[in-house]
Amino acid sequence: MGQVQIGIVGVGSNGRAFVDCYQKNEKARVAAVCDTDEGRLQSVANETSVQWATTDLNELVTSADIDAISVHTADASHAPITIAALRHGKHVFVEKPLATKLDDCYEVIDLSETSGLKVQVGLVLRFDPLFRGIKQMVAGGELGQVFYAEADYICNYLFHDEVRKAIRSTYDTAFVNAGTHVLDLLRWYLGEPVEVQAYGNQRMSSWPQPELKDDLVCAIYKFESGAVAKVAATWAATCQLAYYNLSLFGSKSSIVRDRIAPAETGGEFEPLPFDRISGHPYDGEVDAFLDAIIEDKQPVIDARDGGNTSIGVLTAMAALHQGKPVKIQTR
Ligand SMILES: NC(=O)c1ccc[n+]([C@@H]2O[C@H](COP(=O)([O-])OP(=O)(O)OC[C@H]3O[C@@H](n4cnc5c(N)ncnc54)[C@H](O)[C@@H]3O)[C@@H](O)[C@H]2O)c1
Repeated sequence: MGQVQIGIVGVGSNGRAFVDCYQKNEKARVAAVCDTDEGRLQSVANETSVQWATTDLNELVTSADIDAISVHTADASHAPITIAALRHGKHVFVEKPLATKLDDCYEVIDLSETSGLKVQVGLVLRFDPLFRGIKQMVAGGELGQVFYAEADYICNYLFHDEVRKAIRSTYDTAFVNAGTHVLDLLRWYLGEPVEVQAYGNQRMSSWPQPELKDDLVCAIYKFESGAVAKVAATWAATCQLAYYNLSLFGSKSSIVRDRIAPAETGGEFEPLPFDRISGHPYDGEVDAFLDAIIEDKQPVIDARDGGNTSIGVLTAMAALHQGKPVKIQTR
């Protein structure tokens, strides 16, 4: 295969950044952009010189000129667009969360596996040098047996005008939209979670617009390995996001954010030897997706992997609503 012909759906702030990433990458050509917002669509098409701009997704998924669809739309539309694209034989890159309903997670996983098409889920933290370095340490046994972990997405996005617009129009709850990032890190490090209980509250923050999703959800996960972890997400805090509050406590070493305390040196914290790049390493994600298509190999975060993260998150929401622990049915 020569250049992969890409159709990008959703060209808001995230999709617009992906147009640049694909255009910079010589393995791809952005053949079309699609958005339901006609004004935004035209201005992105003009800025990026993409000739084909359409508000009709069906044109893209049925076109013989498109090899792959890249999905950057509202959270609730990720799975329906992915399913339509797979049914028409297109490979798919889909932003997180893969889905906002459990049934959709299973359907995307099954469709991708029976079709042999590539699906990569946009869990970008796995491309960050800090989180990759921690993965190598965990896999190499440097932490010993990890028995407890915490991973939170706690920040003040409700106080940012731009992000607040997307929270209102595009994003699901903080736990489903952003909690996905941090549960994904824990699944990557610790393996599959098997059960979850969750607690939450609403409208307790100082933010005065209760129609915004200012909920806090805090979930306790039990992992197959025996590890226990706490995952919390809210956009209603007054502070900025701080290193995703990732902490891992193992039998040999503990990691708290970007520092490590090995037992053998008396438990003093020292900096981890990895850089964390600022912003989002989308270029690496795009390159990995294009390689999976061109070299016919498994995407780094395939439908099952990214889907199991969404299943873990959505099961926590089910536990919250049912008020009791729920078993997690990962694929
Ligand atoms: N991986 C990350 O770190 C990261 C960061 C930001 C956003 N995201 C994800 O990217 C997605 C988009 O977020 P954003 O911040 O760009 O939001 P946004 O509101 O700026 O943009 C969304 C765009 O999608 C369009 N759209 C919505 N539903 C559509 C549909 N069914 N068909 C066609 N177009 C549709 C909207 O008109 C809008 O232009 C979200 O799912 C979000 O979770 C991921």
